[in-house]
Amino acid sequence: MSSQQTTLDLSNFWMPFTANRQFKAAPRLFKAAKGMYYTTVDDRAVLDATAGLWCVNAGHGRAEITQAVSQQLETMDYAPTFQMGHPLAFEAATKVAEFMPAGRDRIFFTNSGSESVDTALKMALAYHRARGEGQRTRFIGRERGYHGVGFGGISVGGIVPNRKMFSGNLMPHVDHLPHTHNLAESAFTRGQPTSGAHLADELERLVALHDASTIAAVSVEPLAGSTGVLVPPKGYLERLRELCTKHGILLIFDEVITAFGRLGAPTASEYFKVVPDIITMAKAINNAAIPMGAVAASRAVHDTVVNAGAENAIEFFHGYTYTAHPAAAAAAVATLDIYKRDRLFERANELSASFEDAAHELRTSPHVKDIRNLGLVAGIELESRPGAIGARAYEVFLKCFEAGVLVRYTGDILAFSPPLIVDEQQIDQIFSTVRDALRDVA
Ligand SMILES: Cc1ncc(COP(=O)(O)O)c(C=O)c1O
Repeated sequence: MSSQQTTLDLSNFWMPFTANRQFKAAPRLFKAAKGMYYTTVDDRAVLDATAGLWCVNAGHGRAEITQAVSQQLETMDYAPTFQMGHPLAFEAATKVAEFMPAGRDRIFFTNSGSESVDTALKMALAYHRARGEGQRTRFIGRERGYHGVGFGGISVGGIVPNRKMFSGNLMPHVDHLPHTHNLAESAFTRGQPTSGAHLADELERLVALHDASTIAAVSVEPLAGSTGVLVPPKGYLERLRELCTKHGILLIFDEVITAFGRLGAPTASEYFKVVPDIITMAKAINNAAIPMGAVAASRAVHDTVVNAGAENAIEFFHGYTYTAHPAAAAAAVATLDIYKRDRLFERANELSASFEDAAHELRTSPHVKDIRNLGLVAGIELESRPGAIGARAYEVFLKCFEAGVLVRYTGDILAFSPPLIVDEQQIDQIFSTVRDALRDVA
């Protein structure tokens, strides 16, 4: 630990999703970031194999974004968007819409993925009410889904620890599809598993149980990240889309990690060629330079809600003080320009084959029970130690950090999602570091 670390008071910051006592006993602190690398407070370079938290897709410290933000703060620090506006809010919405599937171009800005999820759920309720089907109040999520930490998101989500502490107050009228994780049939699949599309048919069972007339929306991540990289089986999303359409249920894709290039396409929707009614996003929307999220709604959803009331009435009773904050909007415009100019999604697409190969080379390493991947995402699932889920992956994570590579882990699954500027040599460094770490842990 550096002298800077030892003099720092760590007691006041209650850290999120962190083992606070463990962390504060042996903290890991970054002080700078540029390109593919963080610098720790003791001046070590750490290769970022996670794009921060799946969010810094254009790489760290992009001068264009910094300049856009600083210029905007000097020109106008803040302007409300309730009954007022500023041009950059509209410009940012137009730019975001260009990255969305056709017709999913009505953009509502938030400040995070969790807020985007809550916004999308509210849009679904508002839409059905405006159509005279206000009894459609039920949501269908999926086991192992992660939709952030708002009450809406944890209710629709399916990650047990995120739910159980708050279980008495989850939203009512929520049911869940089964998850698609099936190692018996799909372990070590490259890309999309070939079996599992039938799991979407479970929606028919839920419709039979609750009746379609009570269901507002189905919400899924097209590729689930936070639960440990679950790639959708071939045909699964297509089937969900068909069933939602058949029953008048809105389909929400939570693209908080997949939007803006993670799969080598602007959205997972475009990658899988399945178009939902509503898309949630955040993170890479502005390279995580300033907190920002967004929801892209279909014109049908938007127009139904907006045209329902009187001309002078507020149509959607929802919004945030910082919706389309000028600095966040400036960062979004600059970021989206970088994605286009540097052709970063094409780059991600081109690199995905060597990324896949490098990940799957760890198949014979100790403790590995599955490797899965798509685009620039990979997951390596380890055998858990009896009675100590997550302990082995934590040790691998620590060893990698000490060896200069930042990876993520959930339970005993290691996850990789580097910035889209990663190169072949860095891909090799990521997976060879993990290989060494796997060899060294018990
Ligand atoms: C799919 C998905 N939805 C929602 C969220 C929540 O986003 P935030 O942490 O910005 O609230 C995340 C965060 O990782 C996510 O992966």
